[in-house]
Amino acid sequence: MTNQQEEIHGLQENRIFEPPAQFKAQAAVSGMDAYNKLCAEAASDYEGFWSRLARENLDWHKPFTSTLNESEAPFYKWFDDGELNVSYNCLDRNIKNGLGDKTAIIFEADDGTTTRATYQQLYEKVCKFANGLKSRGIKKGDRVVIYMPMSIEGVAAMQACARIGATHSVVFGGFSAKSLQERIIDAGAVAVITADEQVRGGKQLPLKSIVDEALALGGCTTMKDVIVYKRTGGKISFTEGRDTWLHDLVEAQPAECEPEWVNAEHPLFILYTSGSTGTPKGVQHASGGFLLWAALTMKWTFDIKPSDVFWCTADIGWVTGHTYIAYGPLAVGATEIVFEGVPTFPNAGRFWDTIDKHNVSIFYTAPTAIRSLIKASDVDPKVHPKNYKLSSLRLLGSVGEPINPEAWMWYYRNVGNEKCPIVDTFWQTETGGHMITPLPGATPMVPGSCTLPLPGIMTAIVDEAGHDVPNGQGGILVVKRPWPSMIRTIWGNPERFKTSYFPEELGGRMYLAGDGAIRNKDTGYFTITGRIDDVLNVSGHRMGTMEIESALVANPLVAEAAVVGKPDDTTGESICAFVVLKQARPTGDEAKKLALELRNWVAKEIGPIAKPKEIRFGDNLPKTRSGKIMRRLLRVLAKGETITQDISTLENPAILEQLKEAS
Ligand code: WT7
Repeated sequence: MTNQQEEIHGLQENRIFEPPAQFKAQAAVSGMDAYNKLCAEAASDYEGFWSRLARENLDWHKPFTSTLNESEAPFYKWFDDGELNVSYNCLDRNIKNGLGDKTAIIFEADDGTTTRATYQQLYEKVCKFANGLKSRGIKKGDRVVIYMPMSIEGVAAMQACARIGATHSVVFGGFSAKSLQERIIDAGAVAVITADEQVRGGKQLPLKSIVDEALALGGCTTMKDVIVYKRTGGKISFTEGRDTWLHDLVEAQPAECEPEWVNAEHPLFILYTSGSTGTPKGVQHASGGFLLWAALTMKWTFDIKPSDVFWCTADIGWVTGHTYIAYGPLAVGATEIVFEGVPTFPNAGRFWDTIDKHNVSIFYTAPTAIRSLIKASDVDPKVHPKNYKLSSLRLLGSVGEPINPEAWMWYYRNVGNEKCPIVDTFWQTETGGHMITPLPGATPMVPGSCTLPLPGIMTAIVDEAGHDVPNGQGGILVVKRPWPSMIRTIWGNPERFKTSYFPEELGGRMYLAGDGAIRNKDTGYFTITGRIDDVLNVSGHRMGTMEIESALVANPLVAEAAVVGKPDDTTGESICAFVVLKQARPTGDEAKKLALELRNWVAKEIGPIAKPKEIRFGDNLPKTRSGKIMRRLLRVLAKGETITQDISTLENPAILEQLKEAS
């Protein structure tokens, strides 16, 4: 690694921040001895450790006797003769424990309007919703796509599916009609739950009409019902027999619904995420193991207490919104914020203002958001966190991408007032919950490092043959033992599951995360150095370069395209596309016009998050004599650096000059 890269990844970082004594004194896991004790318990009796936790943290309708079943490895099963219901564990259980009148959700709308739901109210909403779904013939095992804005109804839709044993697949509201259609088809969904429109940053964005468009693209042969939550009352078209208003569907339904008891391995949800090749993968999660880890990491990583107000700023369309909005906080009876808006509306002080307004005590957001708010407060000092109280905060979290030490320090000083620990949580859609993170009352923190794995999580760094590498030497991040909230399979593609995550080259039993990592020589702390495959992380969102390339070449003007990531101060990485058109290479205004056209094309094909920030046109792409595109050279060009690497295998060196600058 170069010095510059080491700086970016914080590998030269030597500042250590001990957990504040006051925090440590009250923490669920207090001090490193407590952490080490849990790790030792897992090491000495792995199944005993997990079965104890599963008994203590979840209510089982039928207790399990088998903890880990490895008979069909790597298709591992957890607690697989046990039965439970996820929604029962999130709602009924809390009401039985006397939390019926406690606020479950504080909904902060885009315009600042606040709506609350107690556990009892949420329970009734979910039961009516579940009965409404059943009245349409939706049943256990059916797949339901949820294409909803951030709302109490969005969470209720997920819980209602869980209640009746339907498997949900939430599609982020920013995905295009085509992406939505592909997911509906792949999942074989029988229904879509959506809203008329969503509101973000003062703007109305259509959802229902995108669903109409997706279904009009054809191929959604299993689809029968579209259920529409009225958010804005904006004009939409209705297809008789297919479309139903949510309020009509639930109106006459009873406010109780017996939960469908399911096997612990019953698929709770499918969530699509990008891989290095091909179409997005439907990551399938199970009910019992997923919920166990959602609840337990709320306690361990977030040290959740009955008096906390928890706020995770993610969208329910991503895994963070599944584990730490729709399930984890409710599973532990917490009060949480569900936020509809964006960090910069009505101004870039919105997060800080909302923290003060609702006395948020635990705040969990992404480095991209922090970096953009640092910039915003440089421009407009009025929105700097020092102008807000922020005295309710006791813990901060970071998720989705590496947090650079500068952003970490700013967050620590200005938002946490040097009193709040920061948990830099490394995990993935596939892992279901946190994997490597400090425990806020135990682990000494180092800016830019996600520190140590949670107890029971057997992470390691290996070389390409699967052998452990010594600390201080970078390698491939793996997990050596299965864990309860791990991905179970790729929906409809078990072969791809095996080759993507349990490759034979590593022996077929180690989970391959797809990230590079390095452990500190002295502390053993992990630092994630970034993806080792062709997956980009833009603002904490995963994008496959192949997906974007396929979208580009689907445009009739495009002959060939190659997409690479480029480091970006705010978004972590940005998308840079090298494009060869069928017509002559455009220059000047013509190039600008065509670049804009192609960016919008990608937004339409995949969604605005996949729009290349930069497009460069060439007569060709740098290729080897056998015709392979030399992406490593494109990465260097994207960064604006001079190529110092060996280019002897490059067939057309002259092309490099042409691709040096953005059009
Ligand atoms: C990829 C997973 C984690 C849920 C949201 C994203 C990167 C995630 C961190 C972190 C460094 C991180 C990795 C990982 N990543 N958290 N704390 N430090 N990198 O889930 O979309 O499945 O993306 O995000 O590269 O593989 P995802």
